[in-house]
Amino acid sequence: MAKRNYQNVVVGLDVGSTKVVSAAAQLGLDGSVNVLGISEVPSAGLRKGNIIDIENAAGAIDNCLNELERLCGISIASARVGFSGGNVATLANRAVVAVGNPASEIVREDVERVMRAAKMIAIPPDRSIIHLLPRQFIVDGYEGVADAVGMVGSRLEVEVVLVTATTTAVQNLVKSVDRTGLKVKQLTLNPLLVAKSVLSPAEKEMGVVLVDIGGGTTDVSIYEKGSLVFTSILPVGGEYITRDLAVGLRTTLDEADRIKETHGCAWVEMARDDVMTDVANINGKEVRQVSEKMVASIIQPRVEEILELIQSELFRAGMIGIPPGGLVLTGGTSNLKGITRVVEEYLHIPSRIGLPENTTVLDNELRQAQYSAVLGALLYDMKSATSDTVMDHELLGNWLGRMIYWFRDLFR
Ligand SMILES: Nc1ncnc2c1ncn2[C@@H]1O[C@H](COP(=O)(O)OP(=O)(O)OP(=O)(O)O)[C@@H](O)[C@H]1O
Ligand SMILES: [Mg+2]
Repeated sequence: MAKRNYQNVVVGLDVGSTKVVSAAAQLGLDGSVNVLGISEVPSAGLRKGNIIDIENAAGAIDNCLNELERLCGISIASARVGFSGGNVATLANRAVVAVGNPASEIVREDVERVMRAAKMIAIPPDRSIIHLLPRQFIVDGYEGVADAVGMVGSRLEVEVVLVTATTTAVQNLVKSVDRTGLKVKQLTLNPLLVAKSVLSPAEKEMGVVLVDIGGGTTDVSIYEKGSLVFTSILPVGGEYITRDLAVGLRTTLDEADRIKETHGCAWVEMARDDVMTDVANINGKEVRQVSEKMVASIIQPRVEEILELIQSELFRAGMIGIPPGGLVLTGGTSNLKGITRVVEEYLHIPSRIGLPENTTVLDNELRQAQYSAVLGALLYDMKSATSDTVMDHELLGNWLGRMIYWFRDLFR
């Protein structure tokens, strides 16, 4: 097929524990995001969100990108790549600088100076800063300034959240993508991508917990006053439920996955004991029947264990009370019937399923929870003037070189 020459095409890549997915979209001048296509292949070389085999991971990424090129009739040179795993952690910091010329307004250089000061914090030598997100600027004591450029003041303060990850995990992902010949336009934390596609500005402003339960990981994030304030990636997800189901039903992982996805329910009371499903035994020779209730009785305790881990993270983050925006659940495992009910019973937080709804042109069949991150990557470039994106460019433009440079500076 002849390759079409689209203008303003953006590409997103999400290298997950169970699937590699990429998507392309054309950005309209009116702010529309026209999704051209999504391609998905089974993942390889990953465990719990981290690359453990570069060769295999690169092979899966390459297959996925080739498929996307074929599907959309485009050739892809670069992509925004999601990052998850690598013991991601958040750290709050603040910094203050005197404005260059007190009589005049604050200029971009002042903002850059205060942001540079805010990242001067000691972090362990095996970790890298992957994002520096401004929460608010404070000008001469006035809080809540989103964009300080153009304001008049003599003292500029900033409150930031730094997101760090183990350097090797970041390097292995970049290396795997590099092998395919694709340029990493930017590496972006998955929860930031997911938030773009599933959260509303009001939820982020009021305070919301965002939980992405994938195959090998569960990402827990908290948004307050419009910004990410906490994120953590737990090494547990839907594969944990599958494994237990396979043991409980004495069947293979593939069969357990199939049963979970077609008949699974996270809330036993919601499952029926008069609806039966076939289960092939472990050597595939015999078939038995089990009720949906029996399947749910294996799934619910595993979901509750994942929720217990989420609760510990929320305590660790210092979250007190119920966030006004509730809890938004996304990722493949959020497809489990009854899962919001278990969340509400167990965590006592009102919850909803977050589907990637913020793209303007999208087939309904693509509006699926497991595509939240990759579709969020397409939305990320829409408003390149948002504060976190501006800083991302600075941080990750030549990310490795810069990070090594900072470390030298920090540990001198
Ligand atoms: N209908 C369904 N019911 C229950 N579970 C489902 C359903 N559809 C998908 N899943 C589960 O979702 C998980 C995959 O989710 P997702 O695609 O979000 O993960 P991933 O991005 O590959 O992995 P991770 O984010 O953990 O690195 C698998 O465990 C799969 O079994
Ligand atoms: Mg994922």
